[in-house]
Amino acid sequence: MRAHNDAEAGESLVRSRQRVIEHGEVFTPRWLVRDMVDLVVDEATRADARFLEPACGSGNFLVEVLERRLDAMRGRYRCSPFEHRHASLLGLMCLYGIELLPDNVAECRANLLDVFRAGLGLGPDDEWARAARTVLAANIVQGDALKMQTVDGRPIEFAEWAYLGRGKFQRRDFAYKDLTQRSLAGGTLFDQFDEDELFAPVRSHPVMTVGDLAAMGEERSVTAPVTASDRTSPACTSATAAESGR
Ligand SMILES: C[S@@+](CC[C@H](N)C(=O)[O-])C[C@H]1O[C@@H](n2cnc3c(N)ncnc32)[C@H](O)[C@@H]1O
Repeated sequence: MRAHNDAEAGESLVRSRQRVIEHGEVFTPRWLVRDMVDLVVDEATRADARFLEPACGSGNFLVEVLERRLDAMRGRYRCSPFEHRHASLLGLMCLYGIELLPDNVAECRANLLDVFRAGLGLGPDDEWARAARTVLAANIVQGDALKMQTVDGRPIEFAEWAYLGRGKFQRRDFAYKDLTQRSLAGGTLFDQFDEDELFAPVRSHPVMTVGDLAAMGEERSVTAPVTASDRTSPACTSATAAESGR
């Protein structure tokens, strides 16, 4: 049995003494992340099961879940590149993080983007990579998970994404505070109401395609830092253009 602070080769679990003292920043070792994700393997390998890492750091748990679900989607949709890509994007859309420190937020988004790009063989400017950046900008929030507020004091909101089929996605935004109440409503008088009656979205967006999502990233100039895989060559660009037009 390994001690809980055992790091694997090349893995660093703390960045500085000061960050440990001020923010409790100690990363979970990879082996422990894998063991914990093993406990929820069914959800980890389904595209539409939602995971929130509320003090996500660089996204150790989210990265592990994304790697597993991309593997699962590759196997499941071997005969349909169109469905494979949409299911993989939905898999990313169902991962959420909250993190206080801006450098960790950027690193978490970049790590997830790297895994997504590697899993789908995407170049940095591929439409699907740009769509993924838009999703990550919405889903990985810089804020205080305990106060449920962004760093500028607004209530944290999360995007609820759903795949409608035929290349169309639906986005509705919910207040994080309301989402935390959903599980508490079970077994009470509120059971008789539909969830939609009790918890209204703060915003509903028009139905959108991957192309729409990619264009939104450009409008808001959401950029992730350059990472190692940003320097690899595009592998699937032409296929993507064909599929997204369907
Ligand atoms: C113990 S580390 C865990 C990081 C990651 N979840 C992991 O297991 O490797 C805790 C992280 O939470 C962040 N953090 C501390 N207080 C927070 C708060 N109130 N809201 C959101 N994040 C916070 C820290 O910056 C740090 O990255």
